Amino acid sequence: MTKIPNLSFTMPVIMLCTRSFMLLITFLTGFSMSGLAQDKLASVDLKNHFWYKNAVIYNLEVSAFKDSDGDGRGDFTGLTQKLDYLSALGVDAIWLAPFQPSPGQDDGYDVADFYAVDKRLGTGGDFAEFVNQAQIRGIRVIMDLVINHTSTQHQWFQEARKSKTSKYHDWYIWSDKLPKDYKVGMVFPGYQEAVWSMDSVSGQYYYHRFYQFQPDLNYANPEVVREAQKIIGFWLNQGISGFRLDAVPFIIEIPKGPGNNPKLDYKFLTDIRQFAQSRKADVVILGEANVVPEENLNYFGKGGEGIQMMFNFYVNQFLFYALASGKLEPFKKALVETQIIPDASQWAHFLRNHDEVDLGRLTEKQRNEVFEKFGPDKNMQLYDRGIRRRLSTMLGNDRKHIELAYSLLFSLPGTAVIRYGDELGMGDDLRLQERISVRTPMQWTSDKNAGFTTADTAFRPVIDFGEHDYKKINVAAQTRDSSSLLSWTTTLIRMRKACPEIGLGDYTVLDTGSPDVLGLRYEHNGKSVVILHNFSDQPQQTNFSVKGADILYDLINNDDKKPVAGKYNVSLKGYGYQWFRVNQLIPN
Ligand code: NOJ
Repeated sequence: MTKIPNLSFTMPVIMLCTRSFMLLITFLTGFSMSGLAQDKLASVDLKNHFWYKNAVIYNLEVSAFKDSDGDGRGDFTGLTQKLDYLSALGVDAIWLAPFQPSPGQDDGYDVADFYAVDKRLGTGGDFAEFVNQAQIRGIRVIMDLVINHTSTQHQWFQEARKSKTSKYHDWYIWSDKLPKDYKVGMVFPGYQEAVWSMDSVSGQYYYHRFYQFQPDLNYANPEVVREAQKIIGFWLNQGISGFRLDAVPFIIEIPKGPGNNPKLDYKFLTDIRQFAQSRKADVVILGEANVVPEENLNYFGKGGEGIQMMFNFYVNQFLFYALASGKLEPFKKALVETQIIPDASQWAHFLRNHDEVDLGRLTEKQRNEVFEKFGPDKNMQLYDRGIRRRLSTMLGNDRKHIELAYSLLFSLPGTAVIRYGDELGMGDDLRLQERISVRTPMQWTSDKNAGFTTADTAFRPVIDFGEHDYKKINVAAQTRDSSSLLSWTTTLIRMRKACPEIGLGDYTVLDTGSPDVLGLRYEHNGKSVVILHNFSDQPQQTNFSVKGADILYDLINNDDKKPVAGKYNVSLKGYGYQWFRVNQLIPN
């Protein structure tokens, strides 16, 4: 007799197994399910399982952060000593600029060995100790993955140029003749002569999207793809939680070279993400891709199967325009244009990073307005498109304007990325060339060399002049001052963390009744926050409705608001901002 299974017992088990199986597949395949299926699953219960959707990421260069051995250059042991500082600030993840051996012609973005630590920054052991201590504090480590190109000094290039029969020859991109458009597509105009240069050893021209000493790798060659996977696997084994993928649109050009009308191989991104997730399920790939909104889903993947995160360069440029001009409409439009992304994907928002502020997507008129306000001298501008200054100097060291900018950053839809020293209001040194101006040593104390090093001379000058002099701006002084920018930033980060709706929820741009005030409302799981920012230096009055809100609890000033005739009236000081929680001050 056939045994009839007890369905009331087996069905839930089957359902449970199917679900676990789906989850397993989801992690192992990098969401290769159809976009719809994945989005449904994610919106049901996965959205807040992605750590990177609501994190605070801190970007730093090991060499410029803290020197532990007195040789004048920062190192991993110095960085380890400062982990408590970063933990107290509220940092969830550190993004390390390149730290591998490099001739340093592009400050480490010219890697000479992908599998080692630059000796000047410490040993492999020092690196492991750092990662371990970060993990103990619940801080993840993301590293720059610079695989579009190598240094010309990399062994691969050295072998490649020697002989056409070397297996490495086809790892790079060569041409016997100088291509007609050898000047098209330079990333660093004014500092770069061409994108094809003659290699005297091979007698051929090689392709380099960036500086001449950075030959592009040839990703049409499967061996190069395999090597990129090995690099990823290697660093994941060292405890790395994710990668900031450098120069994404250039890596995926197939074939490379501007003259060839390259197609973009987006599948590469899905493949590399799948590979990374096969080694570590919660790895994140954060892409450096300055693209227009129509391109976004090609990078994220329609169902979120591409790279999980991208810097929102598009919004960043219009944000700078809004900060400089007070005109909000293009910024609001950019927010709306980048609003729809898959549930598992996330934007990384930022104000400043280690490069110039790139304003290339503004109109010439808009760009000139930003130049005029934030970088009027030629020496402040770079590559005909950007500004090589820190935030504080651009905003004239105006505390109110700086607060507005950072309050805004932490309330933008995505994950916030901050640059070391910006929490203190550090400045820049325009005597240093190109983008090095914003990479000066961290200012720890008012002691010699800002407490960065005990050496007589730091590897790069510490800022010791003007309003941003380390004797005035340093961690030690600001730690003991409850009104300092550092104390304010720490409180802001805590407030942001109490509002997970920002990273997870849906948002609407409110009609605030004032052209100068941006109002954002976030909603997630029945909880909601409303945040206002006044871009004008003059006080503004707002008048707006918030559906379903009986009261707005003020998260900063204990000044709660009730609607009058269905509308909220909130006055904001010049550059003022307000964070409110809807209906519940402490949500359940
Ligand atoms: C983008 C990086 O942000 C920049 O600093 C670097 O010079 C180029 N990629 C080349 O790697």
